[in-house]
Amino acid sequence: MKPRKSRWLTGSIFFFLLVAAIIQIGILTFDYIEEQTSDKVLIAVLILIVIVLLSVIATTIDLIRRKITIERPVNKILDATDRIAKGDFSVRLDATHEYGKHTEYDLIMENVNTLAAELGKSEVLKTDFISNVSHELKTPLAVIQNYAALLQDETLDEKTRAKYAKTIQQAAGRLSALITNILKLNKLENQQLSPEFEKYNLTDALAQAVIALEDWIESKHLQMDCDLQDVTLFSSPTLLEIVWNNLLSNAVKFTDNGGSIFVKLTTKNDLAIVEITDTGCGISPETGARIFEKFYQGDTSHAQEGNGLGLPLVKKVIDILGGQISVRSQLGEGTTFTVTLKGVIHA
Ligand SMILES: Nc1ncnc2c1ncn2[C@@H]1O[C@H](COP(=O)(O)OP(=O)(O)O)[C@@H](O)[C@H]1O
Ligand SMILES: [Mg+2]
Repeated sequence: MKPRKSRWLTGSIFFFLLVAAIIQIGILTFDYIEEQTSDKVLIAVLILIVIVLLSVIATTIDLIRRKITIERPVNKILDATDRIAKGDFSVRLDATHEYGKHTEYDLIMENVNTLAAELGKSEVLKTDFISNVSHELKTPLAVIQNYAALLQDETLDEKTRAKYAKTIQQAAGRLSALITNILKLNKLENQQLSPEFEKYNLTDALAQAVIALEDWIESKHLQMDCDLQDVTLFSSPTLLEIVWNNLLSNAVKFTDNGGSIFVKLTTKNDLAIVEITDTGCGISPETGARIFEKFYQGDTSHAQEGNGLGLPLVKKVIDILGGQISVRSQLGEGTTFTVTLKGVIHA
């Protein structure tokens, strides 16, 4: 693209030449008229006619120039912004760079295109989000409805009744977890959940998070090993709790009975590095590319036990804290999630 200054210069030179040419034509015509007649009144009338004619020509040239270089692109832009305002985000303007020039109008058109594309994307995300939420809400609601209907059968024995009640309780639990996660994610995305930084014993926090899953780990006969260096961070306990709970519960969930989980905490300079490794089902490269998307669930056999919002939450928290998360996995062999966090306090 030509720099602005040089475009401005070309325009000015063109205008200068036009004015000079008109003055020149005026002078030549004036000389010519004076040679032809000595009648002062006639000369004055003829010169007036010439001036009017030249002014009409100059104004017409300017009008045409304005029509082409200003009105045409402005109308195109107005039409496009009007359509965007009415919700049509498919609008794309053809920034034609007329006459080889890349004007400010072309730049505005390109910006309008970017704006429409971005709005279109967030519209798709919004509708996807709504349909995902509705789907996730419907499934447990259908379970609750069905089992509540079954419970009304008075001939049911105590054991079956208790089983149905438990199913309803679990489905209600899923609904509640889903809503909690959506609200948390929403708050994080709208920056309503600002991190409150404080001195935070990462070693204890990880140990606590493991202990919280003890019953589940025992029921699946998983081998749980921890190698935790003593690390204190200046970070947000509430936000990091989301990270450890989700990563550890995923490790437990996606590892078959009898498998093992290993949690390691080390430091490197000012960084704390947490590795959570499991010998579970693993993640294929195709799944791996999407695990941080909202509602994405790779392993459908465990779909009942989650809603695909865990990792997006984890990612959001880590982004807010300025850390990093990466995943290494081999299908059928296991997975390692590595979280790197800033803010290590050296004793
Ligand atoms: N430790 C893991 N082992 C295997 N797959 C995993 C693991 N952690 C996450 N995943 C994959 O990433 C997907 C998204 O995880 P997450 O957002 O926590 O959703 P959810 O746990 O509700 O399915 C999971 O459905 C699963 O396919
Ligand atoms: Mg999960």
